[in-house]
Amino acid sequence: MTNTNDAGMLIEAVIFDVDGVLVDTAEYHFRAWRRLAEEELDIEFTEEDNERLKGVGRMESLEIILEIGGVKLDEEEKRRAAAWKNGYYQEYIENLDDSVILPGVMEILEELRMHHAHLGVASASKNAPKIMAALRELEDFFEARVYGQDLDHSKPHPQIFTLSADRLGVDPSRCTVVEDAEAGVEAAHRAGMFAVGIGSPKHLHKAEIVARGLDELNAADLLFKNSAPPISGAGDQAAARSEPGSAPDMS
Ligand code: BG6
Ligand code: MG
Repeated sequence: MTNTNDAGMLIEAVIFDVDGVLVDTAEYHFRAWRRLAEEELDIEFTEEDNERLKGVGRMESLEIILEIGGVKLDEEEKRRAAAWKNGYYQEYIENLDDSVILPGVMEILEELRMHHAHLGVASASKNAPKIMAALRELEDFFEARVYGQDLDHSKPHPQIFTLSADRLGVDPSRCTVVEDAEAGVEAAHRAGMFAVGIGSPKHLHKAEIVARGLDELNAADLLFKNSAPPISGAGDQAAARSEPGSAPDMS
């Protein structure tokens, strides 16, 4: 299949992050980390701090929190703290149903399927397989899945997306990544892919497109099939969209 934007760029695959893009679980990660930070470690932890954790693996996230609070733990204490957070997070995701799927997700996946786009799902989370298994209708859209268990490196390392492209059998330059994390946008660019940011332009301005949710976008946006004007994030400063079809920063 060929989707060509004005600059002749062919997008064949779209790779979706899970937490905060497909499902509303990013908030649960935040609540669990905040509870660990404030109740167990006596570290104040804000939503702004949490932006640094989005997309980042469990142990790396803990390291960021410890750095914020200037707290030192030995390896055993770190292992216990991460397990505590994970236990608390797992309570949240114990009884998931379709209501956790974010607005516009099923519609845009359906539309992408009609365009014969290859679809991948990629999450740094080791809990993502459980989440996706609980949401079969959602999971059925995807040809390739990459989860925390498959990874040696945390975003912004590009491994998660290069592995996804590999499994989809699509060249990285023909992939769009949909991400709610700054680290994820950077990982997509380092993999040589386009990035669509879901969330606030303040944190995601390096993405080619930023929108508040997938319900603001359509398949053509993700396939860069036309050169629509920048999409603005609900009342914020104009969302970033770099030159349509320009090569992502591969640095
Ligand atoms: C990412 C989340 O998807 O997964 C992060 O954005 C989370 O917040 C990371 O820390 C790892 O998740 P888990 O479930 O393996 O601890
Ligand atoms: Mg995410």
